[in-house]
Amino acid sequence: MIGFIGGTSLTNSTIFKGWHQNSIETPYGTVILKKRQSSVFLQRHGSPYLPPHRINHHANIWAMKHIGVEEIIAINSVGSLKHAIKPGTFLIPDDFISIWYIPTFFNDKMQFTVPRMDTESADRLYRQCEPLKIPVKKGGIYIQTQGPRLETKAEIGMLKRFGDIVGMTMASEVTLCLECGIPYASICSVDNYCNGITKIPLTMDEIQKNVRNNLQNIERLIDSIHQGRL
Ligand code: HPA
Repeated sequence: MIGFIGGTSLTNSTIFKGWHQNSIETPYGTVILKKRQSSVFLQRHGSPYLPPHRINHHANIWAMKHIGVEEIIAINSVGSLKHAIKPGTFLIPDDFISIWYIPTFFNDKMQFTVPRMDTESADRLYRQCEPLKIPVKKGGIYIQTQGPRLETKAEIGMLKRFGDIVGMTMASEVTLCLECGIPYASICSVDNYCNGITKIPLTMDEIQKNVRNNLQNIERLIDSIHQGRL
């Protein structure tokens, strides 16, 4: 079973028409999934919508594990810290920084994980993008901030020395997936330059425009991975 995790851009996507809605009870709350053959789709923000800093990652990943997901492909929206990483393109990260919030399933026992991204899943994901001609770069450092506000120019001035892209969700998901043994790869949708990276002021309109433009490629990718596994 393959699991897709997506964000708000996929909420109204028509590609999940005909996928069956399942409700999974977890120790962390109820999770709604959509399932078809050996694929599952999870909208990470849930319903009713939870903003990035309140996403129930524990319930989401627990539910994926519980229904037998063996690999997760996530779609995460990010801002770019580098001129060369342009909005409208994608990046598959190979490392991350998330110092401010680190979720765990291990609250009652002594168990450490060595964090790493799954290179085999990332390679597979990259190869799946190739025939679809999706403009994607392999490798890069994802920095997770808490949200829901975007970063200040001063914060971005600091972060750009350490990473390539900034988002609010991926590191938490990878961390919990590592703890429960689900290989995880992310295709990050570059939806804007981070605040202050270019002279053009950052606006939510601009981000939403790029989200809409990138959606088609994301839908093509999910569809192709799903079809490839039938
Ligand atoms: N910062 C943090 N998260 C984001 C951004 C950003 O600029 N764009 C999309 N998600």
